[in-house]
Amino acid sequence: MRVLLTGGAGYIGSHTIVEMCEAGHDVVVVDNLSNSSPRAIDRVEQIVGKKIPFYVADVADEAAMDRIFAEQKIDAVVHFAGLKAVGESVRIPLAYYSNNLDSTFALLRAMEKAGVKKLIFSSSATVYGTPEKCPITEDSPTGNCSNPYGWTKFMIEQILRDYTYANPEMQVILLRYFNPVGAHKSGRIGEMPNGIPNNLMPYITQVAVGKLPQLSIYGNDYPTPDGTGVRDYIHVVDLARGHVAALGYDKAGVAVFNLGTGVGYSVLDMVNTFSRVNNVPVPYRIAARRPGDIAACYADPEKAQKELGWRAVHTLEDMVRDSWNWQSNNPNGYEK
Ligand code: NAD
Ligand code: WQD
Repeated sequence: MRVLLTGGAGYIGSHTIVEMCEAGHDVVVVDNLSNSSPRAIDRVEQIVGKKIPFYVADVADEAAMDRIFAEQKIDAVVHFAGLKAVGESVRIPLAYYSNNLDSTFALLRAMEKAGVKKLIFSSSATVYGTPEKCPITEDSPTGNCSNPYGWTKFMIEQILRDYTYANPEMQVILLRYFNPVGAHKSGRIGEMPNGIPNNLMPYITQVAVGKLPQLSIYGNDYPTPDGTGVRDYIHVVDLARGHVAALGYDKAGVAVFNLGTGVGYSVLDMVNTFSRVNNVPVPYRIAARRPGDIAACYADPEKAQKELGWRAVHTLEDMVRDSWNWQSNNPNGYEK
């Protein structure tokens, strides 16, 4: 298939290009580089050994999207493009609502004109809000999001359901990601957040490399085995392969899949495993709980296994080793 990846220069998108090329698909990328570097695409091209058609454009620019669909014969779209920083979304909500929603509207209109019927959307476990129980199945209640970023995912899911109801030949797959970490084993592509990281793994790697003095662990009094928060961390290469599997799903309508491992690890599990596997210390202190955090969140990934034939295969050791391989080889990300 020839697949358009919106936001394909970003962390998950760049890894997905590699896995799609390895599975024999052709990939086209559109990204406005608002949170990524064109060097990510250069490096992906080195990994896969071929040129990737790359358009620098905003997905909300419908005319630009029309041109891409006119120039490339696209069979399916994966819509990664979006702003994703939870704290920032609380400070500048309109930027999040307009970027994430407007890009989806323009994309759907351009797809409609071009007759493209298959869309895979990057949703998030954040749509489950505070889950009633873990592991979380796809039919668990959604909503009650704690920040505008999460609401954009919730709203886009609803928009895609309404659009598909009106256009029943559409094939829409909502992939709800849990906590992606790790990097391609080459150490050439990975996650490089702007400024001080919000997420745990990039924070750990930046402490380990000496860019930050110590990790603050947000709370050790949660009702979890060691008192620290529990999450379902998933290797980004497994996540990327979930998109390849979703390309093969060809039922009309809307389908929803969790992409997680089904296993929850605590913050202390992450820190201790990282230090042990990589033989590098991660100084930390126990701090207050972070507002909006939940105690535990992990997926029931059975539906993706049954219906997509996909499951995560990388271990926690793989995740911490590959995160460190990327960070230690690229202390300043794609800067050089
Ligand atoms: P990322 O920021 O690395 O990648 C997103 C890419 O989209 C960036 O390259 C950015 O430049 C681009 N972009 C943003 N707005 C755009 C626009 N209007 N037009 C064109 N390009 C635009 O983020 P990521 O971690 O790779 O996440 C990819 C998707 O997965 C996002 O939609 C994100 O919300 C979702 N997601 C991420 C996580 C996570 O923890 N990383 C978890 C769940 C869901
Ligand atoms: C994980 C655990 C923290 C940083 C967020 C978004 C979610 C999704 C993924 C996109 C928690 C603890 C963290 C630190 C810490 N993104 N922690 N010290 O909050 O599960 O999910 O990213 O959709 O929407 O909310 O991930 O990596 O921020 O936190 O102790 O410096 O690590 O309290 O228990 P989270 P995270």
